[in-house]
Amino acid sequence: MTEAIPPETPAVPHKRRKRYSGKNPRRFEEKYKERDPRRYADTVAKVIASGKTPAGTHRPIMVVEILEALAPEPGDIAVDCTLGHGGHSQEIIARIRPGGVLLGLDADPIELPKTEARLRALGFGTGTFIAKRSNFAGIAQVLAAHGFAGADIVLADLGVSSMQIDDPARGFSVKLDGPLDMRMNSLRGQPASALLEKISAAALAALLDENADEPYASTLAAALAGEKFRRTTELAAAIRAALPTVKTDAATLSVRRVFQALRIAVNDEFSALDTLLRQLPACTNPGARIAILTFHSGEDRRVKKSFDAGLRAGIYSAVSDGVIRARAAEQHSNPRSAPAKLRWARRAKN
Ligand SMILES: C[S@@+](CC[C@H](N)C(=O)[O-])C[C@H]1O[C@@H](n2cnc3c(N)ncnc32)[C@H](O)[C@@H]1O
Repeated sequence: MTEAIPPETPAVPHKRRKRYSGKNPRRFEEKYKERDPRRYADTVAKVIASGKTPAGTHRPIMVVEILEALAPEPGDIAVDCTLGHGGHSQEIIARIRPGGVLLGLDADPIELPKTEARLRALGFGTGTFIAKRSNFAGIAQVLAAHGFAGADIVLADLGVSSMQIDDPARGFSVKLDGPLDMRMNSLRGQPASALLEKISAAALAALLDENADEPYASTLAAALAGEKFRRTTELAAAIRAALPTVKTDAATLSVRRVFQALRIAVNDEFSALDTLLRQLPACTNPGARIAILTFHSGEDRRVKKSFDAGLRAGIYSAVSDGVIRARAAEQHSNPRSAPAKLRWARRAKN
C-alpha cells in the first residue's frame, strides 16, 4: 500500500501562515502541517487514522486489486493515464524495474510537477519514470513520441484527485468557497461559471440528466441556466433555493450531482474516456493488462460496453466478471473509495 507519506512531498510555499483558532484547522490554507509530512509525520498519521485524506495528498484506491489486475513485471512498459499524486504509479514502477518504464500522464499543470518531484525524490529517475502533461485521449501520440510501439500495462483512475477537490482555489468542492472553475487544466477551456452563464435551460437539463442522472434536472436547469455564479458557494446556495420543498439531505445530493455534471462537461470527461477506450486496442501490446477505476455510472457504462465489445471481437481474451469494489475495511478507512468500481481487461496474445 502507499499510505506512507514519502519524504519529499513538495513543501508549502514560503508565505506567512494563516493562524487558526481552536485545535483543528478547518481551512485548506491552515492545514500547513498536513501539507508538510516531512516535518509533521504524526499529524499526517492522525489524519489518515481518522479516515480523512491529508490536505495536498491523495490516497490511492484499491491498490491491491489494481496490482493484481495489472500484474506488473520487470521490463513492462506502463501507462498511468491519471498520475494524480502518483500513489498507484509508485507501486507499479517498483515492480516493473529493472528495464521497465512508466509513462505518467495528467492534464493538471498545477499538480503534475509536484508529483513528478515527489516521485523523483523517491529515486525514480528519467530512465524509469516519465511525467507528461497530456490528456489521456492523446495516449497514442504520447506513446509514439516516446518511441513506444505499445504498452503492457494501462491504468486509468478517473475523475479528480483529493488535491484538486480539497483546494478551494480549484473550484471543485461543494463545501468550500472558491471560484466556480472546475477545470483540471486551467490553461484550457472555460470555467464552470462561463458554461452556466452561456448555456440554455434545455441544454443544461440534458447535461444534468446525462452526466449525473439528476432527478430535478428541469427545475434546476430553469433556475441556473444563464445565471452568473462566480463562487462555488453561490451555486450551492442557488441549487438549494431552487428545491425549497426537497429535504436537506436530498438537496445536498442534488448539489453534489450538479457539481459532478458541470465538472464532467467542463473537462469533456466522457469524450476523453471514449477516445481512450477506442484507442486501447491499438496502443497495447499482445497480452497487455488494462485496469480502469470509475466513480459513477456514466463512466462505468462506457468501460463495460467497450470491454465487452472487445471480448466479443477477440481483441481482449478476458475481462473482469462484473465490477470489483473496495473492501469494507478500505471503504471504512477511506470513504472516498466507496463509490469506486474497478474493471479490467486482458489483451489477446495474437
Ligand atoms: C483520481 S486522480 C488519480 C489518482 C492517482 N491514481 C493516485 O494514486 O494519486 C485522477 C487524476 O486524473 C487526472 N485526469 C482526469 N481526467 C484526465 C484526462 N482526460 N487526461 C489526463 N488526466 C486526467 C486528474 O487531473 C487527476 O489528477
